[in-house]
Amino acid sequence: MDRFMVEKSPPLRGNIRISGAKNSALPILAASLLGTEDIILENVPKLKDVEVMCEVLSYLGAKVELLDKGIIKINSANINKHETPYELMSRMRASFLVAGPLLTRLGRAKTSLPGGCAIGTRPIDLHLKGFRALGARIDVDHGNIGAHADELIGERIYLDFPSVGATENVMMAAVMAEGETIIDNAAMEPEIVDLSNFLNKLGGRIKGAGTSTIRIRGVKKLGGATHSVIPDRIEVGTFMVAAAITKGDITIEKVIPSHVKPMIAKLRETGCKVIEEEDNIRVIGIDEPKAIDIKTLPYPGFPTDMQPQFMALMCVSKGTSVAIETVFENRFMHVDELKRMGADIKIDGRSAIIQGVDSLMSAPVKASDLRAGAALVLAGLISDGITEISNIYHIDRGYEDLEEKFAKLGGKLYRA
Ligand code: EPZ
Repeated sequence: MDRFMVEKSPPLRGNIRISGAKNSALPILAASLLGTEDIILENVPKLKDVEVMCEVLSYLGAKVELLDKGIIKINSANINKHETPYELMSRMRASFLVAGPLLTRLGRAKTSLPGGCAIGTRPIDLHLKGFRALGARIDVDHGNIGAHADELIGERIYLDFPSVGATENVMMAAVMAEGETIIDNAAMEPEIVDLSNFLNKLGGRIKGAGTSTIRIRGVKKLGGATHSVIPDRIEVGTFMVAAAITKGDITIEKVIPSHVKPMIAKLRETGCKVIEEEDNIRVIGIDEPKAIDIKTLPYPGFPTDMQPQFMALMCVSKGTSVAIETVFENRFMHVDELKRMGADIKIDGRSAIIQGVDSLMSAPVKASDLRAGAALVLAGLISDGITEISNIYHIDRGYEDLEEKFAKLGGKLYRA
């Protein structure tokens, strides 16, 4: 199994370009099942999760071709299977996002119940609530979910929680349903807007993405399109923290500043300098970042996917910080690993209280999930000695060319 070896590095300096967003590419790949003509996706990150989703599409009968780095051509005119195999589903829970498109295209979908993961049980009750509201019958047997609908009829659907995945799956199940569907308390993440823009390019009629009410007027057919995936705001945030934690100076290119407002605000509260340009963000770290408090919330609140990375910074900030995780029930798996590196953190329910220390020390640690792994890399960059991080397949799921990007900035990170 690969491991990352992270050496104490000098302050990171330089420019880097961010990859396309994993959490936009995955729903858009699933939505490509809805098109009946050629689809070209650009700026698709080369990630394990993207590879798995492409395998799922191919299994279902779509033609999937990698045209060039980051450019994928898909044609789903002849999809002929409505059932995804457990082996594929179990490798990535986001493959459940094919359920909505299959229900729309074939009137049925059968997938295995997505597994939970380190950060929580990851239920799908809101996805199923939306499918039922549109007229689908749902049955669960032997760990499989079956959804059948002779026809899908638009309905008003309230999401009890603004779930990103449920909003995406319901949008894809409603885009060709009879009449109008309204999703209330919809997720407002930029990835929802990206998906809506893609579906509208295919011929969909979706309004309100990015707000809490999304209106979808069903259409008869969806064609093809060319679409470029938005930059990954969580990767942007990760490198913003990398500049802060190493007291460096990094310019991140080709970003959409409005997507990373919470991270800009919070880094400024630590005293770091953050300069926003047209589509670049420059972060200049300082010697003694101040302790700050963060509370994760659905967008436009502080993103849960940035909580572990900010916690690494708080470990070496001056004073007492508090991180409150409201989105997932178990997203503090990185705390024990950071404590092995000398961090002073106490967990009290959904809150972590972090006393800043002068420095961290290297230690063998384990990545428990994608963003926890990223936090350990950041901590390793400022820890004496070599930090050995195992289970880095988690990191490979969501960060493209991480070693190369850090090396370009002077970061000493290599795969062993
Ligand atoms: C997406 O997961 C992202 N994944 C996650 O990113 C991200 O952390 C999450 O949104 C929140 O922003 C992808 O987009 C592929 P949710 P998703 O449904 O859709 C509860 C990463 O690191 N919920 O918004 O699964 C759920 O239990 C990953 O890139 C229900 O109760 O997130 C959780 O507490 C990690 N019932 C909360 O909503 C449901 O039917 C947020 O989940 C669905 C969700």
